[in-house]
Amino acid sequence: MSEKMKTETLTVELEKRRYPIYFDGVGGALKADLLALRSAGRRVQVISDARVLHAHPKYLAQAGFKDGEILSLPAGEPTKSIPYFSQALSALAGQSAGRDCALFAFGGGVIGDLAGYVAASYLRGIDFYQIPTTLLSMVDSSVGGKTGINLPEGKNLVGAFWQPKAVYIETALLTTLPPREFAAGMAEIIKYGMLADRELFDDLLALDGLRADSPEVPAIVRRCCAIKARIVAEDETETAQSGGRALLNLGHTFAHAIENVAGYGEYLHGEAVGIGLSLATRLSVALGQLPVSELKRVDQLLQQFQLPVCLRAPLELDELMAAMQRDKKNRAGRLRFVTMNALGNAVTTNEVAAELIESLWREAGAGS
Ligand SMILES: NC(=O)c1ccc[n+]([C@@H]2O[C@H](COP(=O)([O-])OP(=O)(O)OC[C@H]3O[C@@H](n4cnc5c(N)ncnc54)[C@H](O)[C@@H]3O)[C@@H](O)[C@H]2O)c1
Repeated sequence: MSEKMKTETLTVELEKRRYPIYFDGVGGALKADLLALRSAGRRVQVISDARVLHAHPKYLAQAGFKDGEILSLPAGEPTKSIPYFSQALSALAGQSAGRDCALFAFGGGVIGDLAGYVAASYLRGIDFYQIPTTLLSMVDSSVGGKTGINLPEGKNLVGAFWQPKAVYIETALLTTLPPREFAAGMAEIIKYGMLADRELFDDLLALDGLRADSPEVPAIVRRCCAIKARIVAEDETETAQSGGRALLNLGHTFAHAIENVAGYGEYLHGEAVGIGLSLATRLSVALGQLPVSELKRVDQLLQQFQLPVCLRAPLELDELMAAMQRDKKNRAGRLRFVTMNALGNAVTTNEVAAELIESLWREAGAGS
């Protein structure tokens, strides 16, 4: 990949609109956009979390935001919930923010998802901008417009498609990210290789691991955003009958069941995705779509990036199966999976026998 390609701005091309993802000169782009909003007399508001603000205390001020414009919420998945959604809406209403208010998310996927849904809901929708600060949010959640919150009954059960106006990706922010969170983000990167980019998969396998300050990181992040932007452009609201945006869920039907049954927070999302990717590969092998040698390579790659490939402690098989039945991706009550015809080529697969899934769960350490 050329030096220029590594950092060139990407454009997400949607049917009705387009928006940029900045990788280079990010601080300048953010400053300029903020200035333009202020010059137009528009109010701005930021939602962030306490841990991110502690890790990067000067970032927002340097970009031109004022203290009074920043709403700091507690860090962690429980913040993606009705009480904090309500608090954020009230903060906007309390300042009499109008429809021309622009809302920025400064944080990981939790803050991005919550702030995006606040932006989608407040006064029936205000402009939204993403400044992702975790590896996962840079390669996945900040792009594509899925926003939402959790209910006590399940993850991401309430939300809206609400595309950002721009995404500012500054990989230098990752140097403060705990290694476990960095590894969790790697799961989504490995996922992109498995579903759409075999060369990326091979490149990752050839690496000895990655750190936030590794020189390869910016190009890898951009490459993943390009894949996501392309898939989202083809199927913005995940309505394609086969393939399309659903392919981004490779490994996720398994992962969501693990997170649900283990209790949210027990596994980081990316850790559950690691196990899910291994299981999706096992499923593809069992269906005769992939040779068994590919499973070895997938498990090796996941482990190379400190990700689990089986459960740390047994979870109840019945509970895992029940959680899968509740998955949003199911159609007409039938289990629906994303599998691979080849590494780098994912497909949607319906009508998988429950017995097969049960045997895969047992291989991954489920107890009955
Ligand atoms: N909308 C989508 O398309 C989409 C896609 C994938 C995941 N998600 C959602 O994203 C969420 C997970 O996102 P996440 O993994 O970014 O978690 P997160 O937002 O909870 O961030 C992880 C932790 O890292 C801290 N942190 C963030 N940036 C930091 C930095 N630069 N330095 C130090 N600490 C930092 C946060 O405070 C938090 O404690 C889940 O809720 C998941 O459902 C959404």
